[in-house]
Amino acid sequence: MVRNGRTTAAQTDALERLLPRFGLPYSDDPIDLAASFGRQAPTWLEIGFGNGDVLLNMASTHPDVNIIGAEVHESGIGHALIGIESNELSHVRLIQHDAMEIMENMLAPGSLDKVLLLFPDPWHKKRHHKRRIVQSDFLNAVARTLKTGGMLHCATDWAEYGEWMIEKLEQDERFSNTAGAGLASARPQWRPVTRFERRGHRLGHSVTDLLYTRR
Ligand SMILES: C[S@@+](CC[C@H](N)C(=O)[O-])C[C@H]1O[C@@H](n2cnc3c(N)ncnc32)[C@H](O)[C@@H]1O
Repeated sequence: MVRNGRTTAAQTDALERLLPRFGLPYSDDPIDLAASFGRQAPTWLEIGFGNGDVLLNMASTHPDVNIIGAEVHESGIGHALIGIESNELSHVRLIQHDAMEIMENMLAPGSLDKVLLLFPDPWHKKRHHKRRIVQSDFLNAVARTLKTGGMLHCATDWAEYGEWMIEKLEQDERFSNTAGAGLASARPQWRPVTRFERRGHRLGHSVTDLLYTRR
């Protein structure tokens, strides 16, 4: 499910030059994360990082964390690579592949300290709800890859999707809501406003942040 879209010349150049250095090829088998990053460190996964604004911000403010970005959209990956190079963020690795398969196959059980899912495609129409990423398979994959005490952070600007997420997560005994049962959290200060979030603000949407820990 790799999407090409429109890439600029600079992004195409970044993909060719930098993906071998900052990318990880998708693998059907669990990889050795310490070997991939060249060090042992807490590891976070951002799913669907878009153009990488939050990914780059997190990497700049958390030099002690190994950060993996999963995205299928080529131009976003090219955009993020340019920022990774110019900010010398050697502790970031990008994977151009479906995040579900990454969590199910490529990452070992209990290998992640945090999973971020920020502003996933909301699939507004009822007949498209089955395409939403937050489903039982997603929660199984997150529960499998997160360490005990690890954090799942979801955010959306589509109120009904926020309720959908809360409903699914509250039913799942493997996750505990840090805000208290059924409640959303305030946007953590460290989380920068994303491109999709700004668009949501312009449209008058309110934003839901959800912070759950793995029991
Ligand atoms: C609505 S955008 C949000 C982008 C970014 N998080 C933000 O807030 O600006 C959703 C992104 O998720 C990516 N995406 C959707 N399904 C995915 C999947 N299964 N694996 C990885 N990325 C995915 C899309 O390509 C898109 O860039």
